[in-house]
Amino acid sequence: MKDFKYIGKSVPRIDAADKASGKIKYMSDLNFPGMLFGKILRAKYPHALIKKIDTSQAKALPGVVAVVTWEDVPGLNGFGIVVPDQPVLCEDKVRYIGDAVVAVAAETKEIAEEAIKLITVEYEPLPIVDDPIKATQPDSPKVHTDGNIHLHTKISRGDVKKGFKEADVIVEHTYYTGMQEHVFLETESGVSKLEEDGTLSVYAGSQYPQRDQMQLSRCLALNPRKIHVVSYPVGGAFGGKDELTIQPILGLLALKTKRPVKIVMSREESIISYWKRHPMIMKYKTGVKKDGTLIANEVKIYADTGAYASLGGPVLNLAIEHACGPYKLSNVNIDGYCIYTNNGTSGAFRGFGVPQATFAMETQMDIIAEKLRIDPVELRRKNALRRGDIAPIGNRLTTSVGTVAVLDGIRKTKLWQNREKYLVNDFKKPWIKKGFGIALTYQGTGLGVGLPDYGGAILKFCKNGGFEVGVGLVDYGQGIGTSYAQIAAEAMKCPIDKINVLLGDTDTTADSGPTSASRGVYTGGKAIIIAAERMIKILKSKASEILGVSADNLTASDGCICASNEPEKKVFYEEIASRFMNETCHLPQTEGYFLMPVADIKIKDAFGLPHNIFAFSAHLTLIEVNTLTGQTKVLKGAEVIDAGDVINRQGLEGQSEGGFVMGMGYGLFENMIVEKGIFKTTNFSTYIIPSIEDAPFEIETVTIVNPEETGPYRAKGVAETVMGGTAPAITNAIYNAVGVRIFKIPATSEVVYTLLKEKEKTE
Ligand code: MOS
Repeated sequence: MKDFKYIGKSVPRIDAADKASGKIKYMSDLNFPGMLFGKILRAKYPHALIKKIDTSQAKALPGVVAVVTWEDVPGLNGFGIVVPDQPVLCEDKVRYIGDAVVAVAAETKEIAEEAIKLITVEYEPLPIVDDPIKATQPDSPKVHTDGNIHLHTKISRGDVKKGFKEADVIVEHTYYTGMQEHVFLETESGVSKLEEDGTLSVYAGSQYPQRDQMQLSRCLALNPRKIHVVSYPVGGAFGGKDELTIQPILGLLALKTKRPVKIVMSREESIISYWKRHPMIMKYKTGVKKDGTLIANEVKIYADTGAYASLGGPVLNLAIEHACGPYKLSNVNIDGYCIYTNNGTSGAFRGFGVPQATFAMETQMDIIAEKLRIDPVELRRKNALRRGDIAPIGNRLTTSVGTVAVLDGIRKTKLWQNREKYLVNDFKKPWIKKGFGIALTYQGTGLGVGLPDYGGAILKFCKNGGFEVGVGLVDYGQGIGTSYAQIAAEAMKCPIDKINVLLGDTDTTADSGPTSASRGVYTGGKAIIIAAERMIKILKSKASEILGVSADNLTASDGCICASNEPEKKVFYEEIASRFMNETCHLPQTEGYFLMPVADIKIKDAFGLPHNIFAFSAHLTLIEVNTLTGQTKVLKGAEVIDAGDVINRQGLEGQSEGGFVMGMGYGLFENMIVEKGIFKTTNFSTYIIPSIEDAPFEIETVTIVNPEETGPYRAKGVAETVMGGTAPAITNAIYNAVGVRIFKIPATSEVVYTLLKEKEKTE
């Protein structure tokens, strides 16, 4: 690899000190003079007609400044990234228990809470639909007037029937995955404020300020130029702040009261009201030859998107694209439905449909390996897609493909090398059984074909000879700001402390698309490099005047421009900056924009498919099951990752370890219980996530060298693939330990215990 000063290094987070010391103000920390407090009245039923709303008593309460209903929404009473089908405030019907009906702004939080209790809403409860398969039947209650199927996507290739005929073994199972909550530390919170010039400022942590601005302009009937969205800093998101949350209500209350209004969600309200990971039911039928060659795969997916669409359609499509795993399969039939129910709402969540499909397909692979007595790594290696191959849905993989490399990388992990030793059971505790499991996963980077996918960056030259970088993406904990600082410093050949990164602000940063789909480093990073190349040209041309050397013979290095063959002849950036100031009272600014390269084909009737660039990872786990209690403990973990070249080593390890533990929660712990449309697990006393005590003492991260030539410094993106394979690696290890197959996650102690008891009975 080239000799880089910052790229590939473990550069400490640029915001670490400010975050650790509490200097950074999150949106829930903001306070303005004269600020009011907002509160939202949510639905009383998961499905009901609204007959009458009476706010008179609330309005009469001293200290209440505004009470707003659907009648006060000046623009479109709807939002949603793909289809704006979710009302800002419900008019005639509520479709889930978190639906917003009335909002109040008052002098204090307590008064706002009191006012909410004084509102009476007359409802006519409707029968609910809480089963996605039943929801597809014609006699089912309808969540929306045009039926419960939000999206149906079907992809067929080859001849599945013929494939099954030729198969020596057919494995057929149904898989169920749970609803997962993002558990960001900062709940949906923020402040909106009408400025003196009539601009509406909206401060709320989110993943895409420019799209928030567009959606807000639609709801509030305001010129987008009159809306200033600040979406950074964000106290965690993981996909859960990709869609709008409280912003339209905040804006509405600020416009109505002409005073700053703040809303901070309680954890309970956050859990019932906003996006979750789609629960899915997945029916798999996989045909395979005796030698392990996969020959046919038939998949049916039912994704429960809850009451509103949000990103349910693209989530289903990504699950479909990844349903067959990164394997060669030429006879496939994948049929998926994204379905409305009254079970909360689901939307974007790290992995975006892929963790669900990976759990199913990687369990199928484990079952096949056992049936055919083929080593699980060998089985995967034999079928692995390689660069140039046609993926199951029909696109050719023309970019870097690390499938084989990550599988081979498994052998490099300490966990693999020592697994025989680690697997020895403690004879003093015969009820504890150890197991080892693997899974392979991959993840499309970017939004896919047919959707506007681009990067943008603004680069400003500063008086101190440094640079200000403005990218609309946000740092919600993944460390993207630090990666941008590294990329900018490397590209501008200057010290990293001379780089000031601005993120997530419609006034000061370039639209670079959403902070999602593992696309942050790629899009923002490339845009920064393009802007930097333009900036270097400008600096060279000024340096050429100063040094009397032609610009072609100048080189940028170590914060100065020097003559290529006479390095002592140089001028520092700071000096160039003062030259600009003396001559024009102005410093140059450049911008970089580019379109994400996309696949050369489009999959018919499946928007967003296919993707063009993928990250790959193999996940390994060593677990033990307590056969007396059914409890599974993850002892060790490892991930072998192909995310292209590494930008920040420590950042990548953080993603890997965080993704692994999040995947553990998905596979073992996190059980969001919704009964008849009512959430039963509305806080962390009942919705259990892994704690530091549950996390394995060691999670190894091994990166393989597989540069993506099109990427910024040959990087791809790592955020999501690190999560997708952990759950099946754990459930495969449970089978390895105690011989029970997990078809439904989370595999809580109760689930494993029950399966062990059933197994005992049949033995
Ligand atoms: Mo992410 S789930 O692509 O915000």
